[in-house]
Parts: sequence; structure tokens; C-alpha cells
Amino acid sequence: MRQLVLAVCSLLCALGVGATRADDVDAFTKEHAARIAVGTCGICHGPAGVSKQPKYPLLAGQNANYLAAQLKAFRSQTRGDADAIGYMWGMSATLEDGTIDALSQYYAGQAAGTGRAGDSALVARGREIYQKGIEDVGVPSCATCHGPDAHGLADFPRLAGQHAQYVLKQLGSFQNNMRNVAVMHGVAQGLKVDEMRAVAAYLEAQP
Ligand code: HEC
Ligand code: HEC
Repeated sequence: MRQLVLAVCSLLCALGVGATRADDVDAFTKEHAARIAVGTCGICHGPAGVSKQPKYPLLAGQNANYLAAQLKAFRSQTRGDADAIGYMWGMSATLEDGTIDALSQYYAGQAAGTGRAGDSALVARGREIYQKGIEDVGVPSCATCHGPDAHGLADFPRLAGQHAQYVLKQLGSFQNNMRNVAVMHGVAQGLKVDEMRAVAAYLEAQP
């Protein structure tokens, strides 16, 4: 009997049955998350995830699996930097997995921001870096992972329309490992501050 239970269990596990994904959310949890999103998170991120202040990232239209991974990283205190610690470690500390999934799905389902035009020379320089990278110093094309229109690919986050100030700060935090992610550390390593500023201006301008 025990053998049978184990066999069935390993079969179900192999099929991924019982594994939760950000898109499996019951109605009660969904409603609970929408209340938190509007009443609590909305104070900074805006009720529908389109924040007005550049310190607070836009969440609307973001990839749900990416959002869930970030909330878990704040909760386990593995995503660092002063603002992550100061704002998000506390905000995420008591969120349960189901609520995290429902919040992530809530934001993924909101209409993304429309982008805001910036200095045209800076945006043009940023477009070149985004699409082609900077070969001499080993900076790869951002489009390979984040998509040609920066809407995200698979679990790589959407960057289009994101506040330039937030993007600039994240690139700095990847470079100095305060936000410790090997792949983005490798990408950001060769970027100078004015190049980060250009790519951030380009991204903010994208719909
Ligand atoms: C008091 C302001 C504040 C509140 C309230 C707040 N946040 Fe944040 N949030 C921030 C700041 C600031 C950052 C950027 C941290 C950084 O720079 O690393 C952030 C980052 C995030 C990110 C990462 C986004 C990305 O693109 O990587 C997610 C996801 C997030 N918040 C979700 C939430 C959720 C869900 C709630 C409610 C439970 C919430 N936040 C409440 C200020 C806030
Ligand atoms: C090899 C794939 C890859 C390439 C190339 C890449 N990225 Fe990323 N990027 C990622 C991954 C994965 C993440 C999510 C990191 C995490 O989980 O915290 C990310 C996250 C980011 C974030 C944080 C988004 C947020 O909402 O906080 C920014 C900003 C970013 N990348 C900008 C860039 C730029 C600019 C380039 C090109 C110079 C680039 N990336 C190239 C894989 C890549």
C-alpha cells in the first residue's frame, strides 16, 4: 500500500499535479488580494499598479511569475538594496504564497502604462544599447531576454514604460550586487552610468 501511494505520488509530482502556479487562484484569495492591492500596495504603486512616483516601480502588465518571484525574494530577504529593505521587506513579510500568487495575477492583468517621452538623443542612444548591446565591453543585447519591444519574454520581466529612475537604480544595484542576480550582474558589469541613463530613458519612453 505504502509503495502504491509513493508510486502514485511520484507520478503526480512528475506530471506537475499539485504544483501551484500564479494562475491558479480561488475566488476568495483573489478578492482578498485585490483588497490588499488597492488599500495597501496602492498607496505607493497606485491602485492598478501604475505608480506616479518614479521611486515606486510600475507593476501593471508585468509578468506574473516574475512578480511572484520578486515578492518571495523580498519575503526571504534575498533581494537587497536600501529601498528593497526599507519598503518591501516589511510589506512582504507576512504574505502567504497564495496571496502572493493572487497579487501577481492581479497586477499582470492590469493595463500597462503607456510610456513617457524623454530627451530624444538619450532615447536614441538607449535604443541602440537595448537592441544591440555594446560589443567591445561584453554588454549583450537586452532584447534577447526582455523581448524586442521590452514587453518581457517567458519569465524575463517587462521593462517597457518603467520609470527611468527606478531602472537606473536597479542597474546600479545589479552592478554592485546589492540586488544579487548573476545574469543581470554580468549584463550590467560593463555599463557606464551615462549608458545606464540612456537605456533607462529609452525604456521609459516605450509603450
Ligand atoms: C510604502 C511604499 C510601498 C508599498 C506600500 C508597497 N511597495 Fe512594493 N515597492 C516599493 C519600492 C520603493 C520598491 C522598489 C524597491 C527597490 O528599489 O528595489 C517596490 C518594489 C516592488 C516590487 C518589485 C517590482 C519589480 O519590478 O521588480 C513588487 C513586485 C512590489 N513592490 C509589490 C508590492 C506589493 C504586492 C505591495 C503590497 C503588499 C507593495 N509592493 C507595497 C514601495 C512600496
Ligand atoms: C541573459 C538574459 C538577460 C539579458 C541579456 C538582459 N537581462 Fe535584464 N533581466 C534578466 C533577468 C533574468 C531579470 C530578473 C532578475 C531577477 O530575478 O531579479 C532581469 C531584470 C532586469 C531589470 C529589473 C526589472 C525590474 O522590474 O526590477 C532591469 C532594469 C533589466 N533587467 C535591464 C536590462 C537591460 C538594460 C539589459 C541590456 C543592457 C538587460 N536587462 C539584459 C535577464 C536578462
